[in-house]
Amino acid sequence: MTRRIVMGVETSCDETGIGLVAVHDDGTVTLLADEVASSVEQHARFGGVVPEVASRAHLEAMVPTVTRAFDTAELRFADVDAIAVTAGPGLAGSLLVGVAAAKAYAAAWDVPLYGVNHLLGHVAVSALQHGPLPQPCLALLVSGGHTQLLRVDDVAARVTELGSTVDDAAGEAYDKVARVLGLPYPGGPPIDRAAASGDGAAIAFPRGMSGTADPRYDFSFSGLKTAVARWVEQREGAGAEVPVNDVAASFQEAVADVLTAKAVRAAQDFDIGTLVISGGVAANSRIAGLAAQRCAAAGVELRVPRPRLCTDNGAMIASLGAHLVASGAEPAAIDFGADPALPVTKAFC
Ligand code: KG4
Ligand code: ZN
Repeated sequence: MTRRIVMGVETSCDETGIGLVAVHDDGTVTLLADEVASSVEQHARFGGVVPEVASRAHLEAMVPTVTRAFDTAELRFADVDAIAVTAGPGLAGSLLVGVAAAKAYAAAWDVPLYGVNHLLGHVAVSALQHGPLPQPCLALLVSGGHTQLLRVDDVAARVTELGSTVDDAAGEAYDKVARVLGLPYPGGPPIDRAAASGDGAAIAFPRGMSGTADPRYDFSFSGLKTAVARWVEQREGAGAEVPVNDVAASFQEAVADVLTAKAVRAAQDFDIGTLVISGGVAANSRIAGLAAQRCAAAGVELRVPRPRLCTDNGAMIASLGAHLVASGAEPAAIDFGADPALPVTKAFC
């Protein structure tokens, strides 16, 4: 059996990711290397990603990260058959670094290049852990930058957005609530930890967009974030102690409730048997736990990639690239550009 090696390059936000995968004749994909250099610590004191800082960090991390990936996979540059790079969506300056680097590698190694959609990389990554994606499947993408519910008939050709957030992304809400509670950035992991010893039913925070007149698959987290901030302010104003663990658990319960209820509802409405949850927030213990419970009750198979694959990485881009290589997709023209607002309906260019 022959195998083709695909390198994935990810630089859409604050992670420089280089992935190497092998795609086999039967279409299965195996992971060979997944190296990530993160600039998250450089952004921590600002409470969010600073674009100029992220771009510079990508520039500095690119070559060392590529070297590490080839060392890990025990491959040589000459082994690579194709390159996939995130073309969008993401931060313009950050995307540009990855696209320029990928073009340089593709030209130097004389291999085809694909500019691919970051969001669909989050979906395609599941293949590395769970095998080929069932088609159709539903994908719930939850991260610091995106919250989308997708119907995926073909990850490279037919993806429909069923719903998305009308304001903050789920991860953004975690980051903002963490700040209110005096927890560090990024807020997801410390809230998840605090919530473990709190009571999720202690405070009834609002479930955004869950009224009968609201759009069925859209989300809203800004009202929830404000409700948490008000609740904490009132407590502090009254000179009372803030029960951080209960607030974290109750906030987390509201997020998990809305995300999983809408995803499972869509699976039932469209009679789709598999739900993939991905993106940094999918690493959350309560979201994964509640999704497992509700999917089991509804007879839906749940696929949640391991945390390392859920957060931004190059392997997810390589996995989508491998899918394109296996399906014989046309590579990009060398003059394609990064597109910070690349729509989810466009898998590659
Ligand atoms: O996918 P990702 O690494 O980058 C983006 O594309 O945004 O996601 C980062 C987001 C951050 O907002 C972080 O707070 C959140 O994922 N996150 C979590 C957890 N781990 C990371 N949110 C909730 N629970 C977690 N355990
Ligand atoms: Zn992402």
